[in-house]
Amino acid sequence: MSRRESAANASSSGVASRRSSTGSRGAERTATEEGNRRGRVGSRGAGGGWREPAGAAEATAASRREPPLCFGVKNDVVGAVIGRGGSKIREIQNTTNTRIQVIKGNPEAEIKIFGNKAMQTKAKTVIDNVVKKQQNYIPGHRVDIIAFQPTVGTDTSTSESVTDDQPLIDWDQIREDALKWEKKKWADLPPIKKNFYIESATTSSMSQVQIDNWRKENFNITCDDLKDGEKRPIPNPICKFEDAFHSYPEVMENIKRAGFQKPTPIQSQAWPIVLQGIDLIGVAQTGTGKTLSYLMPGFIHLDSQPLAREQRNGPGMLVLTPTRELALQVEAECSKYSYGDLKSVCVYGGGDRDGQIQDVSKGVDIIIATPGRLNDLQMNNFVNLKSVTYLVLDEADKMLDMGFEPQIMKILLDVRPDRQTIMTSATWPYAVRRLAQSYLKEPMIVYVGTLDLVAVSTVKQNIIITTEEEKRTHIQTFLENMSPKDKVIVFVSRKAVADHLSSDLILRHISVESLHGNREQSDREKALENFKTGKVRILIATDLASRGLDVHDITHVYNYDFPRNIEEYVHRVGRTGRAGRTGMSITLITRNDWRIATELINILERANQNIPEELVLMAERYKANKLKREMEKKMGRPQGKPQKFY
Ligand SMILES: Nc1ncnc2c1ncn2[C@@H]1O[C@H](COP(=O)(O)OP(=O)(O)OP(=O)(O)O)[C@@H](O)[C@H]1O
Ligand SMILES: [Mg+2]
Repeated sequence: MSRRESAANASSSGVASRRSSTGSRGAERTATEEGNRRGRVGSRGAGGGWREPAGAAEATAASRREPPLCFGVKNDVVGAVIGRGGSKIREIQNTTNTRIQVIKGNPEAEIKIFGNKAMQTKAKTVIDNVVKKQQNYIPGHRVDIIAFQPTVGTDTSTSESVTDDQPLIDWDQIREDALKWEKKKWADLPPIKKNFYIESATTSSMSQVQIDNWRKENFNITCDDLKDGEKRPIPNPICKFEDAFHSYPEVMENIKRAGFQKPTPIQSQAWPIVLQGIDLIGVAQTGTGKTLSYLMPGFIHLDSQPLAREQRNGPGMLVLTPTRELALQVEAECSKYSYGDLKSVCVYGGGDRDGQIQDVSKGVDIIIATPGRLNDLQMNNFVNLKSVTYLVLDEADKMLDMGFEPQIMKILLDVRPDRQTIMTSATWPYAVRRLAQSYLKEPMIVYVGTLDLVAVSTVKQNIIITTEEEKRTHIQTFLENMSPKDKVIVFVSRKAVADHLSSDLILRHISVESLHGNREQSDREKALENFKTGKVRILIATDLASRGLDVHDITHVYNYDFPRNIEEYVHRVGRTGRAGRTGMSITLITRNDWRIATELINILERANQNIPEELVLMAERYKANKLKREMEKKMGRPQGKPQKFY
């Protein structure tokens, strides 16, 4: 077993296998792939149970003699203790020669440290420090570690014995100083203007019944004011482009040129809110125009600030995206729809760093960036973020899931707090909702349909239950039967699978491109370009391509491997059937995927799709097996390997 696996198994009770969004990470280069690995480990963890970390034999031996050191850590900081893919906990285990177990709980997880006493104490001190550091990021968070009664033995150290010899820190003073420093930092900011909305007569004359009906007919739009206390009125939706942009002829001109007939539901409701300067969380199905829902008001915002652009000394708008390809795409949209002489630059890992530094230094109005590279330029003082007044986090949930939170936090330290912030995604998992709100101020939320997971209704979703061995035959048959107009994106779980599958297909004289995090950036861009232009009609990709990419003529999405979570399934499927077109997805499911069967059935049901009987049986068997294992756990019986269900 590899070190990575063993460390992740240290947190096999589930905490690490979910979203350790606070985990530290280095360069963003391998973020998606890292995420994949983490997910795979997590899935193993569910059925796996405890395994020893490599090099921890001593700790294990010691653990037989020494009772574990047990304590609690609040759930909102436990992710930092575990680290990305179990990296932090692995590091602690390795450096202290201990074995650490994290047991999920509510409101805190229980940590058990096995090993000799001195090392247990050392490991706990390291964990305490990680927790304290993390605590500083969470406003109002004070107490983090609660001493537990040890479960075995009597003389196990508690948190007090570990922290006794440490100097007392005056947190109140530190907080007070931080506030003073904050005030000073933002003292001389130029004025900011945020409200540019002039409601049209047609929009203001809508009756409540009309508004309700309209929202219902437009895929059930729901709006909520998340401000505490007295709620503000939710602006009426706009039905025509003119209703939002009648005073902005350049915007109208670009919309006309694009040939759009009417605003999409998210645009209708998001534009009046964003144009008023209110922070927004926008959740709408894939391919329904979320990009323009934030770009159009952004251009107006930039163009109408009291301080002239040339005096701002830095970008006014910043868009953060999880992947380089998405950043490039948003930048292309910016260039296409912006007006005047607004200048946009894409800042992304793997791209020409010196060139990006030059571009940014020359003066720029809009930066579209992946968090890692922007953070790099920020730390090296190549970019001034104080001038940003309009901030967008596109695919916010993915960025947090990928572990970009530390970079985002560092970026936001330099962005003025009274900025306007917008977050968008097609999925809004519960785990990131609370985190996300800390980036926004008194936001409104608009969601189209439901906040539950839904795949876009324009895609017919097909499920094939098969075996690992038969997957190759399935995909070959599919690809050989493609019509000349078909264009397919084939999703696989790992970079290696992408490489194997593409070379296999090329040997069979099937022309394909592949897109994954191990490829050179220039190759990645070339692959996507060839796919977009139709030079090749098959793209084999990892989840690097699951979010946001807008290739309008993709007819099929083929899930060769099931993604690591159901959100990614929804995003993958959404690469087809965009902007009102229809599409088809084909998903291969093997018994290795049985734990997702129930969630998948829910998605299929919501979109009125066929549900194969075998999938239902799979879900039932998984539930029964899980129940059996829980019962065995309660009764203290050894669990052994998960039972095969056929
Ligand atoms: N009002 C409109 N009418 C028709 N097409 C539109 C409209 N607005 C945007 N589009 C087009 O719809 C396509 C999808 O838009 P976009 O990429 O913004 O979707 P999205 O909601 O961000 O999807 P995802 O969740 O996959 O990121 C784009 O090609 C865009 O140009
Ligand atoms: Mg998008």
